[in-house]
Amino acid sequence: MTLQEYLAEADAIERDGLAAFNGAANADALEAARIALLGDRQGRIKALQEGLRSIPSADKPAAGKRFNEVRTRLTAAHGARVGAVAARPASPAPDDLSLPPRRRWHGAKHPVTRVVEEIEAVFRELGFTIAQGPEAESEWYNFGALNFPPNHPAVDAHDTLYLEGGGLLRTHTSPVQVRTLQRYAPPIRVLIPGTVYRRDFFDASHAPAFHQIEGLCVDEGISFVDLKATLNRFAERLFGAARTRFRPSYFPFTEPSAEMDVQCGVCGGSGCAVCKGTGWIEILGSGMVHPAVLEAAGVDSERYTGWAFGMGPSRIAISRHAIPDIRILYDSDVRFLEQIAE
Ligand code: DAH
Repeated sequence: MTLQEYLAEADAIERDGLAAFNGAANADALEAARIALLGDRQGRIKALQEGLRSIPSADKPAAGKRFNEVRTRLTAAHGARVGAVAARPASPAPDDLSLPPRRRWHGAKHPVTRVVEEIEAVFRELGFTIAQGPEAESEWYNFGALNFPPNHPAVDAHDTLYLEGGGLLRTHTSPVQVRTLQRYAPPIRVLIPGTVYRRDFFDASHAPAFHQIEGLCVDEGISFVDLKATLNRFAERLFGAARTRFRPSYFPFTEPSAEMDVQCGVCGGSGCAVCKGTGWIEILGSGMVHPAVLEAAGVDSERYTGWAFGMGPSRIAISRHAIPDIRILYDSDVRFLEQIAE
């Protein structure tokens, strides 16, 4: 081989080698290029080295110099590429077309939130405003102003979570009735959603924190007729054309007091597991606001009368979806939420 032929061959190997190393897309390609160029057995560099033997002695130094140059450059180019391809997969993972698609989960409102929002919408249409109050309350707002006698069993520590340094976690949303009456002059029509707390075990039918919705209407000339008409309209809107019934009851802050049941929507009143065989579902407590409550809040009970109600939206969600255990409402388990998401 003449020196010229040798140098031309060296140039070709250098050009091909740099292109192969710099263009290697992954570790496999780089290794294949290394074997083809720098491999000990059949690599082109090895062949180039062997070719030196056939060069006339006088040209050997020039040929040897060029050989060393090409080998050094290609070794460096290979070395530089090793790190760059290390992070890449050997070959892209093929899509497995037999895999089931990922389930879509868009998220949904909590069933109790939905009930609260539906109830709010019904009462907004009836002219009610949404009001709120503090969850940490004084004994006076939670009990005293609501006409609880001091020895009433509900005031007992068994039902109430007392706070250090006085105060308590409200056991119902009724104290917001008093706060509203103190702050605004009649006519008043407010709906009061909120969280309340009781010292209860967390079991299938009790939770230490749960939702209530309170309603209050105070004006001149308000009577029990207004209470019944409004609550019947509400029941019709929320439960369809269900019948209602009012049963006499007792609350310290209302007189007279009544509980309202709606006919069970699952069995139509014939009795089933949801209504525990009675045909009726208890929805709320209500009554005419006790004059002592109006007076405690600074409202003239000779001039004004009113009615109020309180209900648990969780119980409505439970009977609506036939949920067997109240704790499910607190778990945030998407397998449950997904079943009743709308
Ligand atoms: N505060 C009552 C409770 O927690 C519910 C209630 C009953 C509220 C009658 C009212 C009402 O406003 O009139 O059990």
